Amino acid sequence: MTAISVTVNARPVEAKVEPRTHLADFLRDSLNLTGTHLGCEHGVCGACTLLLDDMPARSCITSAVACDGARVTTIEGLDEDDIAIELRAAFAREHALQCGYCTPGMLISARDLVLRLPTADERQIRVGLSGNLCRCTGYVGIVRAVRSVIAQRRQRGLLPVHGAGRTQLGPVGSGHAARALGTGAENTSHSPVIAPDQNGAVIATIPDFVPAQIVIHQVTVAYPPDQVFQIFGDVAGVAACLPGVALTGTPTPERAEGIIRVRLGPITAEFEGAARIERDPANLTGRITGIGRDHRSRSATQGEIRYQLVPVDHGAATRIDLSIGYSLTGVLAQIARPGLVRDLAARLTAEFAGNLERHLAGLAPDAAAATPSLNGLALLVGLLRARTREVLQRIFGT
Ligand code: FES
Ligand code: FES
Repeated sequence: MTAISVTVNARPVEAKVEPRTHLADFLRDSLNLTGTHLGCEHGVCGACTLLLDDMPARSCITSAVACDGARVTTIEGLDEDDIAIELRAAFAREHALQCGYCTPGMLISARDLVLRLPTADERQIRVGLSGNLCRCTGYVGIVRAVRSVIAQRRQRGLLPVHGAGRTQLGPVGSGHAARALGTGAENTSHSPVIAPDQNGAVIATIPDFVPAQIVIHQVTVAYPPDQVFQIFGDVAGVAACLPGVALTGTPTPERAEGIIRVRLGPITAEFEGAARIERDPANLTGRITGIGRDHRSRSATQGEIRYQLVPVDHGAATRIDLSIGYSLTGVLAQIARPGLVRDLAARLTAEFAGNLERHLAGLAPDAAAATPSLNGLALLVGLLRARTREVLQRIFGT
């Protein structure tokens, strides 16, 4: 088995593969990406076509081990792609598919033509698609669909892309020579890493990261530090205290998987991910590092919570010093300004502290915290109230 590291549909993947395993089998069998079809398995029919570093490639004659460092995009990775969306609509409109077996590969090749061809030239389209065989349609509808998308895009002023967005070529068009040469092109994504466990099952692992934003908070609970630290070791109990959090599996002391739902006005995000838990009993400190992805908004987050328990009131109570760091990418990063997130973190921390005290007292968490989503309106009203109060205090000095 050989270890490889590839990016598949924008997610870093680490796996061990047999040298003889081809890329299509790896994607279908190990990652369950069955949109990549297999026909001839000899590089003839084009059913297995995908993008390797943005370049169409036959995955049935590409060894998975040769793709180490490459960026792979399958048809599933083009769900939200502008051109693929237009092509799918055109294929449906022009009756460009029947059984659909050739369609994923056909769409990938067609997308490449839409990107590259300056005009909707039928001959060039037919030549460009000649490596994709369709046993059903007779190609007329397919060519019509591709022509219409190219023509419409050029009419809208969308010019062809020189090189079709292709990067430099490496073995099998992977372009990973840049990484081998240390040019800094290696993946620095903060996304989850998918890696096989001891049984070969694919699981998410959590890389270290440097947060883009850090928020500092302190809360005090009326219980001694040892008791609080012990409770922090109860992953399910702590998760129940966190508003909007729901575990999706049985946690271990070192790891938990779950979702956190956040609803802010019209925006609903459901981050699905995993967290790694580290604890230092000698110093009463701990660190929780998490990753999550909201598929709907195509946003991803990586965060860490560091805590230190400090005895106060002669050890009768505990001050919890919290450092909350996070990085956000995608659509939500454009609207979640640091100030808003800071306010949100403050409210969540306060709710967490309240629930923690209830938990320590043997009571159930507050009903609002058990709700699997945050009431965005209530949060916003609360935030506005707090901001208004701050402004009034500044003006009147009260
Ligand atoms: S399955 Fe790859 S070209 Fe036919
Ligand atoms: S639609 Fe059936 S093979 Fe193309």
